[in-house]
Amino acid sequence: MNDASGIGNDQWKTRFGFMLAAMGSAVGLGNIWRFSYVAGENGGATFLFVYLAFILLIGIPLLLTETSIGKAGKMDAVGSFKKLAPNTKWHLVGLMGVFGGILILSFYIVVSGWSLFYLYQYITGAFWTEPDGGFGQAFESWISNPFAPLFWQALFLGITLLIVMNGISKGIERANNIFMPALAILMIFMAIYGLTLDGASEGLAFLFTPDWSQLGNPSIYAMALGQAFFSLSLGICGMLTYSSYLKEKDRLPGATVGIALMDTVFAVIAGIMIFTAVFSFEVDTASGPPLVFIILPSIFEGMPAGNLIAIVFFVLLTMAAFSSALSLLELPVAYVHRTLGLSRKAATFVCSGIIFTLGIASSLGFGIWSGVEYNGNNILDMIDNFTANLILPLGGLLMAIFVGWYVKRDQAIQMSELQSAGLQNIWYTLVRYVIPVVMAFILFASLFGFM
Ligand code: TRP
Repeated sequence: MNDASGIGNDQWKTRFGFMLAAMGSAVGLGNIWRFSYVAGENGGATFLFVYLAFILLIGIPLLLTETSIGKAGKMDAVGSFKKLAPNTKWHLVGLMGVFGGILILSFYIVVSGWSLFYLYQYITGAFWTEPDGGFGQAFESWISNPFAPLFWQALFLGITLLIVMNGISKGIERANNIFMPALAILMIFMAIYGLTLDGASEGLAFLFTPDWSQLGNPSIYAMALGQAFFSLSLGICGMLTYSSYLKEKDRLPGATVGIALMDTVFAVIAGIMIFTAVFSFEVDTASGPPLVFIILPSIFEGMPAGNLIAIVFFVLLTMAAFSSALSLLELPVAYVHRTLGLSRKAATFVCSGIIFTLGIASSLGFGIWSGVEYNGNNILDMIDNFTANLILPLGGLLMAIFVGWYVKRDQAIQMSELQSAGLQNIWYTLVRYVIPVVMAFILFASLFGFM
């Protein structure tokens, strides 16, 4: 059956293997680097509250929606839509996903490259003491260099390529079987360590005591929605592609709840870890994207055994980045592999080449191309905002409309694999009515700037 679909026989060995890989996709730079600066800039606890509400109300139901399309379609992003809705334009949702994935990975490897470089700096001891001029200046002069960052992002992408090239069960599943347990252990260690720091209670208050008056701040909603989609890997058919490799007997609903739960727990633990540290060293929570790369090193320097903690932290960040990059690369690879008739190996090289080339722009945006900016956003910020706040929610909205309105109710319920009538009704009502309305509103509002 799978041969007819053109994918070959590659499948997840076990449902648990799929869950680890999907968790690996979800847990990434988004949970640590992106979550902490977005939450920091948007009010901490109030943002977290809106974010959690969106995960529950929109994220989980849509994760089930997206994976159900992949499992029923059994093909890549475009192929699955073509199979379920032949002779329609729905496959364009998949195509938008493929392009979205390429765009996201093009800047994702830039930040991942920084993480790999920092890990190297800590292992060699170069960052054990603050460089002349401080960590901020060291970071800025390093990223403005036209070549060094490109080397690290190429190295990061190269390793990702080697894993993806080997396919689902032998490449991606195996890698995640190592990454994910290690990640969980390191993360728990870091959070417990964070709680022992002096500023812990302030950090916890920032993260868990909402200031309800901030709910009137409209930008919180668009930012929280974008972050929820980014963190859950939703909206561009990455999860769809992963679920297309499931065996028939492996059920979806429990898996999707598990994935979302794990992702959320990681985001909250990362938040605890970072904000307890940020408050104990009295730095500004709204430091923006460099938070992790500029602030944390000076925090590590002042900590007992800080060098060791720094190594643990950047191992964790780099592994989390790898497990997410795997899914971002698999998405276009699956599509190119099928449509261009290339071997998986060749498809992986072609996609990586395109992604690396695009990524050069995001990297140079910190240096010789720093003049290219819009509203204070450099090239990386622009691609990040464009994909997270527009492409991902738009893709999610279209998938909700696809399953809620194009597919017949009976088929949608069957695809969801939900057993209880109550859950079926709740999920279907959310996907058919609530999610499209809420998301269309937030999307229009943020597009036309009245939010
Ligand atoms: N979720 C990952 C993170 O939090 C990033 C990611 C991986 C992603 N695959 C995706 C985002 C697909 C959107 C779509 O870092």
